[in-house]
Amino acid sequence: MAIQTLDVTAIRKDFPIFETGIAYLDSANTSQRPRQVTGAMLEYFEKFNSNIHRAAYGIAEEATLRYEATREKVRVFINAASTKEIIYTRGTTEGINLVAYGWGRKNINSGDLIVLTILDHHSNIVPWQILAAEKGARIEYVDIDEKGELRQDQFADLLKRGPKLVAFNLISNAMGTINPAREMVAAAKRAGATVLVDGAQSTPHQPVDVRDLGCDFCAFSGHKMLGPTGAGILYGRRELLEAMDPFMAGGDTARRGHLLLARRHSSARPGDDRRPRPGVPARGTPLRDAADDSPRRRRHRARLVLRVHAERGGRPPRKLDQGSPEDLCLR
Ligand SMILES: Cc1ncc(COP(=O)(O)O)c(C=O)c1O
Repeated sequence: MAIQTLDVTAIRKDFPIFETGIAYLDSANTSQRPRQVTGAMLEYFEKFNSNIHRAAYGIAEEATLRYEATREKVRVFINAASTKEIIYTRGTTEGINLVAYGWGRKNINSGDLIVLTILDHHSNIVPWQILAAEKGARIEYVDIDEKGELRQDQFADLLKRGPKLVAFNLISNAMGTINPAREMVAAAKRAGATVLVDGAQSTPHQPVDVRDLGCDFCAFSGHKMLGPTGAGILYGRRELLEAMDPFMAGGDTARRGHLLLARRHSSARPGDDRRPRPGVPARGTPLRDAADDSPRRRRHRARLVLRVHAERGGRPPRKLDQGSPEDLCLR
């Protein structure tokens, strides 16, 4: 059977920016948008621009429908139990901050332990440092070994100290390390911790199933996975979201339109992220492609890795996700 390859020429045609002749190697930072996404955004501005959830006329209803349809697409994409667990954010950073403020301020107390890793992005370190300083909590960081992998022995020791929160990324932006997330989440849950995973580098490359992972929170961005800027997602288990305090108050966080009666409720509920976010209706468009982890895609990635290392004269990594690069080229 012939080995199928990725039709790079056809895919490239979806990205108008490549008509300029550039070679772009910074997708982990922010990816380019295909015309399906820019087209959906343009269509939104040209045909439906209006305030979602706050107006009773045709285009506002269409805008609201599209806004909420994206929520369902995202739910399916990460296999969440309910759209009530999908919160729109600007990106991973905002999602993690939302948890640090909304959940952390209520649940982290003096002397509590927070476990992070040295592989984490600043977005998954600084919010916890600020919270720890405010509350008098402690932070411990899991180190890496010489292969760039998290020291599971250290992680296990830290779990014995009963951390209140464990947060780590699924794939490291710094080293490309793919962390054994399922095992780590399960161990952290057994130790009684609440677990947040940073999916910023993972959702563009691998299927992420939050129920299979067993995490409590998962934050990721739109702009790293072919989607619009400012269209991030926070997944949170419903009972945790519902018990959280508002992160940003105002607008939909007030239930009744009277100053004295304005009741605060969680801004972490989907109903409370109803601020205009023009990227959201286009957010669902690239999801299926972004998470394509087919053998064709893996083979292509492995070939690129080998080529880059050959051209730079370096030694390629012995292992990528699911096997050695050489093996993956043939599978
Ligand atoms: C692992 C990881 N977490 C968080 C972020 C922050 O993402 P954003 O700037 O979209 O909030 C990044 C960005 O590179 C990242 O790689």
